[in-house]
Amino acid sequence: MTKEKRNRAWYGKQDKDGFIHRSWMKNQGFPDHAFDGRPIIGICNTWSELTPCNSGLRDLAEGVKRGVWEAGGFPVEFPVMSLGETQMKPTAMLFRNLLAMDVEESIRAYGIDGVVLLGGCDKTTPGQLMGAASVDLPTIVVSSGPMLNGKFKGKDIGSGTDVWKFSEAVRAGDMTLKDFMNAESGMSRSKGVCMTMGTASTMASVVEAMGMSLPTNAALPAVDARRMALSHLTGKRIVEMVEEDLKLSQVMTRAAFENAILANAAVGGSTNAVIHLLAIAGRVGIDLSLDDFEIGTDIPLLVNCMPSGKYLMEDFCYAGGMPVVLSELKDKLRPAKTVMGGDIMDYADGAECYNDDVIRSFENPLKPAAGLRVLRGNLAPNGAIVKPSAATERLLEHEGEAFVFESIEDMKANIDREDLPVTADTILVLKGCGPKGYPGMPEVGNMPIPAKLVKEGVRDMVRVSDARMSGTAFGTVVLHVSPEANAGGNLALVQTGDRLRLSASAGALDLLVADEVLAERRAAWEPDAPHYTRGYAKMYVDTVLQADKGADLDFLVGKDTRPVTRESH
Ligand code: FES
Repeated sequence: MTKEKRNRAWYGKQDKDGFIHRSWMKNQGFPDHAFDGRPIIGICNTWSELTPCNSGLRDLAEGVKRGVWEAGGFPVEFPVMSLGETQMKPTAMLFRNLLAMDVEESIRAYGIDGVVLLGGCDKTTPGQLMGAASVDLPTIVVSSGPMLNGKFKGKDIGSGTDVWKFSEAVRAGDMTLKDFMNAESGMSRSKGVCMTMGTASTMASVVEAMGMSLPTNAALPAVDARRMALSHLTGKRIVEMVEEDLKLSQVMTRAAFENAILANAAVGGSTNAVIHLLAIAGRVGIDLSLDDFEIGTDIPLLVNCMPSGKYLMEDFCYAGGMPVVLSELKDKLRPAKTVMGGDIMDYADGAECYNDDVIRSFENPLKPAAGLRVLRGNLAPNGAIVKPSAATERLLEHEGEAFVFESIEDMKANIDREDLPVTADTILVLKGCGPKGYPGMPEVGNMPIPAKLVKEGVRDMVRVSDARMSGTAFGTVVLHVSPEANAGGNLALVQTGDRLRLSASAGALDLLVADEVLAERRAAWEPDAPHYTRGYAKMYVDTVLQADKGADLDFLVGKDTRPVTRESH
């Protein structure tokens, strides 16, 4: 016997409540049979003109609706907060958890049986998944899809990655400001997310590897008609998932998270995937830790996309996309159920690589070991990370003198000083950019190379901070130092002139200062995190967890599938 649908508590009653729930919905022209017990599918949409990366999602919602109707369901689209990475201040990451709350409570409060998450721009996918995981209905993701390749002066250019490069070139006097401004329009030529393997495409890739979307979802360009077809097929499938009672938690298992870590390494994915996967796992109740990311350490870099390689997402799509990567990873992936009901390896069925320079094989990788490295030591007792595939190899083993910026303002004011006492061997340290400190942990860890060194031809240095960095960025950048400076981590105690040692191979990040000296500095240290008296910023700063725990709010970890009732729970 089929289980009674969740929506019956809203639309199945022959009383005043049922009348009210149905009657007001009928003002949109829905007929009686829409409420006859068929699956009601929520389409959770982060479309917004302020989130340009998600501006195609209105169209995709129509595609999902077609599929839902075709399969005998009833689609209802609803908006949630949208997070435009390039538009929000102080940083979209501050609001990821607020989006997650919006998604969670919207799903919980309405009479829907399953949900399709329409997201794309960096924080929208993880925020939606966090919220959906805490309610645990049948759930599928449809991503915005990447923009078409950027073009400038006859060459492909990549979102983000080439902005950093052009900006350094202008500072070095190698590019005119006029050319720099002209590149702006060529970079973003269509709807869609950044077309490098930045955080958005990373999250879409790991979502596909977790079996939380239909196959090929990650790489199909936003404007490719096949993405509309994929949305249609998703609409059909979510109705079946409701009938099968296949819940999110049956797909997002520990095995799926491990597959996400393996896939993230193979695609040269963003460091942001770490913090988001930790947060999502916390919602499902899976005890994922930074140490679990070490299973990806020896996975070779297979996808030759910026910022770790040279191609873009459109090329990745035409080369075969994620099904080819999954096929290459076949001996590594854990058996895991997908939203299609089968195993993740079904996604690789019939996958063919059409360009073996864009998607490499295990035998001919772009780099031999591409996974993120987890670092520990007295500078990061709870961990920090570095992305070797985007770093300069010789700098991954480096000891040098620290030059410390106490805050982002300090860094911005002084980085280009001609008399800055730094050399190419200096380790730049930035404090005050963690979850509590900024607040919101912005993508500023890839601080610029000091202007005087840029002029000498220096393009990379070791940089250490409690910040994040954009998935489109590159460099030998140590990120997510935990605990952060403002939470009293040893990062707060580093002074200019101290020696630091980074060893990616040993997974170590050490402050070479005697314990007694550190104890003296700690005794004199005073916390100075921003203080808020009201609003979301107050709630965030008061309750946010550190980066190694995914920077979720402490009271949001876990799930509760019950409706909010008058009984306390
Ligand atoms: Fe939205 Fe890159 S800024 S995906």
